[in-house]
Amino acid sequence: MKYRIRCHLSQPEIAAAIETLAARISADFAHRDLMIIGILTGSIVFVADLMRKIALPHEVGMIQASSYRGTATSPGDLLIHLDAIPCIAGKDVLLVDDIFDSGQTIAAIMPRLMEMQPKSINSAVLLWKTARRTVNVVPDYFCFEIPDEFVVGYGLDYNNQYRHLPYLGVIEQLEDPT
Ligand code: IMP
Ligand code: MG
Repeated sequence: MKYRIRCHLSQPEIAAAIETLAARISADFAHRDLMIIGILTGSIVFVADLMRKIALPHEVGMIQASSYRGTATSPGDLLIHLDAIPCIAGKDVLLVDDIFDSGQTIAAIMPRLMEMQPKSINSAVLLWKTARRTVNVVPDYFCFEIPDEFVVGYGLDYNNQYRHLPYLGVIEQLEDPT
């Protein structure tokens, strides 16, 4: 099967949205003890760009969660590994993910982090597929609402490929000539 990647959000569009988001976060978290917690692996590029635009001293940690393992779009069991994060007790945590799809990942991680007694927890995502939400939680911050299409690039993968693309694209299947 042959695929083509159609650009959905360009590098400059993403950069501009992140700058706007970082300004909001910088204002909202001024004089607070901000700790960014990124969700591996999809958020790595977003976290790297966002943290460098936030004009406040802050800490960064990563946790691992995967809901889509093996194949591209069928959710498997959600695995959450919290062992590697720094101490979040008393901190104002900003949980950062690449995309809010069903919302199951963020909804499952939030209570696990609450057990560690942070002062507050908010969530930020680059993309929000608003039509697919199945949980009673919404992201506190987001850059773009997107339609229900599978996107890759800028950290997001299809079978662990395409994370390196500097833009966000939609995978299109090309006609099979046979
Ligand atoms: P949720 O738990 O359904 O909100 O799914 C969130 C996770 O699913 C994200 O962290 C992504 O890793 C993955 N995911 C959801 N939609 C897409 C997509 O369109 N492309 C790539 N990964 C996706
Ligand atoms: Mg993910």
